[in-house]
Amino acid sequence: MQEIVRQLAEKRAAAELGGGVKRIEAQHAKGKLTARERIELLLDPGSFEEWDMFVEHRCSDFGMKEQTIPGDGVVTGHGTINGRAMFVFSQDFTVFGGSLSEAHAEKICKIMDHAVKVGAPVIGLNDSGGARIQEGVASLGGYADVFQRNVLASGVVPQISLIMGPCAGGAVSSPAMTDFIFMVKDSSYMFVTGPEVVKTVTHEEVTAEELGGATSHSTRSGVADRAFEDDVEALGMVRRLMNYLPLSNQQKPPFRPTPDSSDREEPSLDTLVPDEPTKPYDIKELILKTVDDTDFFEIQPENAKNIVVGFARMAGHPVGIVANQPLVLAGCLDIKSSIKAGRFVRFCDAFNIPIITFVDVPGFMPGTAQEYGGIIKHGAKLLYAFAEATVPKITVITRKAYGGAYDVMSSKHLRGDVNLAWPTAEIAVMGPQGAVEIIFRKDRGNAERIAELTEEYRAKFANPFIAGHRGYIDDVIMPRETRRRICRSLAMLRNKQLENPWRKHGNIPL
Ligand code: HXC
Repeated sequence: MQEIVRQLAEKRAAAELGGGVKRIEAQHAKGKLTARERIELLLDPGSFEEWDMFVEHRCSDFGMKEQTIPGDGVVTGHGTINGRAMFVFSQDFTVFGGSLSEAHAEKICKIMDHAVKVGAPVIGLNDSGGARIQEGVASLGGYADVFQRNVLASGVVPQISLIMGPCAGGAVSSPAMTDFIFMVKDSSYMFVTGPEVVKTVTHEEVTAEELGGATSHSTRSGVADRAFEDDVEALGMVRRLMNYLPLSNQQKPPFRPTPDSSDREEPSLDTLVPDEPTKPYDIKELILKTVDDTDFFEIQPENAKNIVVGFARMAGHPVGIVANQPLVLAGCLDIKSSIKAGRFVRFCDAFNIPIITFVDVPGFMPGTAQEYGGIIKHGAKLLYAFAEATVPKITVITRKAYGGAYDVMSSKHLRGDVNLAWPTAEIAVMGPQGAVEIIFRKDRGNAERIAELTEEYRAKFANPFIAGHRGYIDDVIMPRETRRRICRSLAMLRNKQLENPWRKHGNIPL
């Protein structure tokens, strides 16, 4: 017995050492933690239960028979975050560059299958050179097995990806199908093909950082939802994110009591919207002053800044916030903002998270760049997402709600449950000046007449009451009472029942 125990301890020690001391030192020298150190920081202390520590690859080509490392480059298992169950895989770059073999894939698939069975999120810590080159098609098959599970788990359990090293090829496709991607600055990369292949094929010279670094993906491509300074910060932020999410689509998101009264008034909001209709203001001020404890977890803060999305709580219950940002592009909807917000709305709807929408939108962005880029289809993504969503939907129009963008932004017509407006709201087909220039085209040369008609149009239509007459707005409220009105509406909607007609799946304009 003692001998067996000794052997077990030896095997565990070998597995825990991964690719060996030298490679661990190299990992640390790059400012990266090891696969196991990352799990320690991600999960509650002592909660990790490791599985498949003794799994080895089955490849015998290219001298691989002599190189077996227990665990085969990925640490898998389950543990807790703030006492709630999570499944985790953490790729070990010290073992064949964290590359994915058939056996490595089987380990990931095993925890994914369990996660769906018990209804718990999957968190993937990715640090991988892609398909294990020595294994050929067996590793490609392994990737496809993971991809298939990503798709079947989508909308069933939350799937979160942290990119914590160079991820190439198949190593980016799986994260792409998960709900949120976080990257680490200066040590993580994501690309379908690396800089050398790019140079050969397109003759473009680009560094790994420019091509697929955390900054590129969190500011330009929109692939990454957040970028953090180092492993420690990124792991801490995943813990924070998980506090807003239910464990599966069968559950409600977690309630957390708050000392912040749901009746709290915020008098400063009465003067948030400037008198001058073209003057911008920061919609984040409204968000922070409305939600519990000024605590807002923003998603994609550096991409498509003309729309702000993220998680917060109201009276202790998680909500998703979608808000036009007048500070950037006057809050216009364009291709990037529609994609960003459309995806966020669908996540909230899939996981029973009510949606609060703050509207100040002058319309869709005009121009050839937008039209040629397909704004018609991309803008329709956000429209589709709001229209499809059956979770509680509360909308507050703070200022402009013009044209198609009025319809899109969780309007009453898209089954908005409670639609409120501030007295400063302007709900119309378009802004007064544009409207007058079209209706009174013959008076275009007459500046005085145009100004007079614009004022007339503004007085008649640039207010919330025309929409109020028709019941498209349930009430016109004082800005200071926004929090109380939303909290009460959410409480009223807590047991909302609404189902879309049965279908295999809708056909969102991709
Ligand atoms: C096997 C790999 C590997 C891989 C790296 N290694 N990638 N082993 N298969 N895919 C090994 C290296 O041989 C090395 O072993 C160790 O990992 C560390 O790699 P280095 O190159 O020394 O590290 P670094 O300089 O940091 O570069 C990391 C890297 C680079 C950028 C990831 O290794 C690289 O470009 N790898 C290949 C990426 C790739 O083309 N993968 C296949 C993608 S195709 P030693 O023993 O020296 O420590 C794919 C198909 C799926 O994934 C498609 C599905 C849609």
